[in-house]
Amino acid sequence: MTDRPTIETLLREGRTFPPPAEFAARANVSDPAVHERAEADWQGWWASWAERLDWDRKWDTVLEWDAPWARWFVGGRLNASVQCLDRHVAAGHGERVAFQWEGEPGDELTLTYADVLAGTCRIANGLKSLGVGRGDRVTLYMPMVPELAMTVLACARIGAVFSVVFAGFSAPSLRDRIHDLEAKVVVCADACWRRGQVLDLKAVVDEAVADCPSVEHVLVWNRGEGAASASPGTERDRSWREVVAGQSTECAPESMDSEDPLFVLYTSGTTGKPKGILHTTGGYLTHVLATSNLVFDLKAEEDVFWCTADIGWITGHSYVVFGPMANGVTQLMYEGAPNHPRPDRFWELVEKYGVTILYTAPTAIRAFMKWGDEWPNLHDLSTLRLLGTVGEPINPEAWTWYHQVVGGGRCPIVDTWWQTETGGIMITPLPGITELVPGSATRPFPGVKAGLVDESGAPIEGPGAGYLVVERPWPGMLRGIWGDPERYVETYWSRFPGRYFPGDGARRDERGYYWVLGRVDDVMNVSGHRLSTMEIESALVSHPAVAEAAVIGVPHELKGQAPVAFVLLRQGHESSDALAAELREHVAAEIGKLARPEAVHFAPELPKTRSGKIMRRLLRDLAAGKAVGDVTTLADPSVLQQLKTEYEGRE
Ligand code: WT7
Repeated sequence: MTDRPTIETLLREGRTFPPPAEFAARANVSDPAVHERAEADWQGWWASWAERLDWDRKWDTVLEWDAPWARWFVGGRLNASVQCLDRHVAAGHGERVAFQWEGEPGDELTLTYADVLAGTCRIANGLKSLGVGRGDRVTLYMPMVPELAMTVLACARIGAVFSVVFAGFSAPSLRDRIHDLEAKVVVCADACWRRGQVLDLKAVVDEAVADCPSVEHVLVWNRGEGAASASPGTERDRSWREVVAGQSTECAPESMDSEDPLFVLYTSGTTGKPKGILHTTGGYLTHVLATSNLVFDLKAEEDVFWCTADIGWITGHSYVVFGPMANGVTQLMYEGAPNHPRPDRFWELVEKYGVTILYTAPTAIRAFMKWGDEWPNLHDLSTLRLLGTVGEPINPEAWTWYHQVVGGGRCPIVDTWWQTETGGIMITPLPGITELVPGSATRPFPGVKAGLVDESGAPIEGPGAGYLVVERPWPGMLRGIWGDPERYVETYWSRFPGRYFPGDGARRDERGYYWVLGRVDDVMNVSGHRLSTMEIESALVSHPAVAEAAVIGVPHELKGQAPVAFVLLRQGHESSDALAAELREHVAAEIGKLARPEAVHFAPELPKTRSGKIMRRLLRDLAAGKAVGDVTTLADPSVLQQLKTEYEGRE
């Protein structure tokens, strides 16, 4: 343990990490010129990955690009669930384990690819019996259980468009998403386990669907022994036992067009209303197949892959369900919290299941770091050969801790930059060839072309900093925003015409490596999850005591950023600690616990421009204790002094 250099030494030395020789020797990609080769014929490169899928009908054209509208593998037909299941079974790998699952209380389940295919078909037949067919929408509200992955695949099998809502979202958030999508069926679990508690998910669904006329049925999966099961009571509610359990384990897959919708996933934007990000079939599968294979170096016969993300986020869609399963690898899935019952739960799981590749978020790594080296050190982590991170920039200190304490100094780390909209990984090391620099996501994935532009949209060449852009279409890109084509064009393609703008700022160094700096819009990143300041402001304003609200993201040791609110009360309401607490809970109830502000400050006035726009920048400077920048546009400069007194008084 002690022959390893200290983290301080490594950081001070500014060390870089070339691929370990033994890793490089067996890596899926070892050609150092792979980026250049892909660049020379980027459409051909993507097509070579599409060829690894099982198409019912091959495409006629790789890409039709009518900016900003893309169609990939035009004319091709395929079914997404077949890529993840049938073809592995047909190739003789039906007995390979697809999921080793562990519930938080310690219950276990092992499912082979043949089991998952059978289970998926049962659910698909059950959904059909409820009247779900091609093009119908199904909303899923479930914890991390194999049934969630199977329900996703079942929807894909029958051509229904699925939308998973993370089971930490509140009833109003769930309702808005069901509404926007006009879902016909909601599939939920009655309950789940979190930190030793049983959470009643069915109650949240009941509250949400009370207001959703499109919903014909709610299909309820029972979490089983020990869980508080809300019994299905109405005609609307159907139990899993009644609808799914007795179904046939065969269901012919629908042959879908390459551009048929596969799923809609809601994410926060700069307005109060979440955006339904639309992903389609052939291009998305090609992108996640290729990136899983090369970035995670997956070896289907050997690896045990563990992506700790929930399927309610894009990471779980792409790197629990479709990418790893299209590659036919064995995965670990875990229901609960990383520190239950003790802070070594993750490391216990790595040891018990022999995890070889671990993909998690910087916020989790920072928490592990804080809990102390003794927890990972209690376990044999020697099966690990590759580590990954996603969701936010990783500070070099956390990177180095992950590398040394979890990876034993022997595992490359892939820091992967991408987003809900990109569908799959966009900027990332390739672990067999990329020399790593802690904190940098390094280079665009082969076939992806990124760039930097300045405020005016002029490209920045060589080293520099600016707005991150993507220069041309890629197969996993979003195809639009559900029901709102203008917002798609406006949000992503208008700021820098002809270029995709993800909303991030970045720096590029002398090696050409990218350092993603964070959002440059009114979106914050809390524990790797995207939150809109406007959405939290709207939630606050919906409380009867609140006249106006301004929300900012402030730096937070563990979460990366945390929301902090400044609130102006209505006449007749007095500021108090009790009201601050009530407002924090109000946001949690309106959106979900992850959006609960770290602090609520009562302000006599909010800083505004003469045209009435809230100057969040000033609030950010104030919260950061920085000298407040340019205030010449402030309508009433005295507001700032009042705010300062209030803010500092409460610290
Ligand atoms: C935003 C996307 C991609 C799945 C998880 C979040 C930030 C993501 C990194 C990274 C620096 C990152 C960006 C991006 N982000 N990965 N490796 N380094 N920043 O998905 O909710 O769509 O959020 O997360 O700001 O725009 P998301």
